[in-house]
Amino acid sequence: MEPHSAEFAGHLEVLPGKGGLTKLQVKTPWSTAEIYLHGAHVTHFGKAGEPPLLFMSEASDFLPGKPIRGGIPVIFPWFGPREGQPAHGFARTREWHLKESHRTPEGGVTLDLNLSELDGFDLDYRITVSTSLSLELTVRNSSANGQTIENCLHTYFAIADIATTAVTGLQGTSYFDKLTSHASSEISSALRIDREVDRIYDDSTPSLEVHDTGLARKIVISKSGSASTVVWNPWIEKSKRMADFGEDEYLRMICVESGNVADREIHLAPGSSHTLRVELSSVGLT
Ligand code: BG6
Repeated sequence: MEPHSAEFAGHLEVLPGKGGLTKLQVKTPWSTAEIYLHGAHVTHFGKAGEPPLLFMSEASDFLPGKPIRGGIPVIFPWFGPREGQPAHGFARTREWHLKESHRTPEGGVTLDLNLSELDGFDLDYRITVSTSLSLELTVRNSSANGQTIENCLHTYFAIADIATTAVTGLQGTSYFDKLTSHASSEISSALRIDREVDRIYDDSTPSLEVHDTGLARKIVISKSGSASTVVWNPWIEKSKRMADFGEDEYLRMICVESGNVADREIHLAPGSSHTLRVELSSVGLT
């Protein structure tokens, strides 16, 4: 596959990535990004002169049929395990198609990826790389029947140290703790992680922040079309059980995921669609 036009030379390149999987490499005046067609998986986004925003595991697989560990897995059409089926759905292990690409008037790069004829769904994923990373996942029910879906942009953020990181914006939000199967309400204005955490927040607030004092930056997560936020860190024991994750990598990552899961699943009438939008940006902490 070739870049779609000459003006893309230096801005968008289609290259062989790890494991021989196809990788799109994007450069803008402000940032760089890498996207694998395998899963439409963003494995890198970073602003010039800043450490990457996204965490990638050194132990990740890059193999057909296997999910990539880190970056932004696209979770669809279900979240979590399902008997006899792959965890977190099949969108993250399918080969997506690059439908279109263009430069934005400001000098960013937009990629339009698509996955069609997927069990009665048509998925469009628009990724815009600029001073920030903008993601727009649209699912259309192309079947003759109503369908229920879950979706999630399962974002792994890179942080200096989990001990000096806090998530703000969730105070007062109710959540389901997947580890204890109990519902609760967030009391903390700055959520700190010091053990395994796996929670589904009933959260449709438009903006959350990951404060990382070690890297002296905060990551801002702005979203719409999302009624759930999942916060996950596997901590020590679970990290050891995960074959595609380093034993001490839990110290340098946190997942803050935007989507619609569990009770917030979405019912789609035939022909109807839903769009989940997430924008990730960063600013220095003063
Ligand atoms: C999180 C889930 O979103 O993803 C966790 O809440 C899960 O329960 C984690 O362990 C990772 O899932 P996977 O399938 O990528 O190992």
